[in-house]
Amino acid sequence: MNKTIFVLNGPNLNMLGKREPGIYGGKTLKDIEADCIAAGRDYGFSVDFRQSNHEGVLVDWLHEADDKAIGVAINAGAYTHTSVALHDAIRAISVPVIELHISNVHAREEFRHHSKIAAACKGVICGFGPASYVLALHALKTMTD
Ligand code: DQA
Repeated sequence: MNKTIFVLNGPNLNMLGKREPGIYGGKTLKDIEADCIAAGRDYGFSVDFRQSNHEGVLVDWLHEADDKAIGVAINAGAYTHTSVALHDAIRAISVPVIELHISNVHAREEFRHHSKIAAACKGVICGFGPASYVLALHALKTMTD
């Protein structure tokens, strides 16, 4: 059986480690990828971890997940707050999608309080630092057993 989880990352997340460390912490995206692969091993998932700064690429990867994955964890970065295209792509696929954020977006600027993708997702995890990724994988484990 296919036990691949796509972990998708949107714009500016390639800058983790040097990007606003007071908000996002000191881990790089490579460090977070290693955490996800280790958690995936515990959960029996193989993790396909990707990042793009381009909205359409994220749309394409969501479509691809429908054939190749049993679930998706997505940190859509700023596209979370703007993207009808990501909302529609999540609705268009049948595998479960979890929205995640490193920071607590509700404790930040008002423009981060609304997610355009949350209503299309199975659930939302935010505010736990890089551990939000591992928590999202845990959520997918409970949903795909
Ligand atoms: C983020 C929160 C978003 O508001 C922001 O645009 C990001 C990162 C997070 O992981 O906390 O790029 O998704």
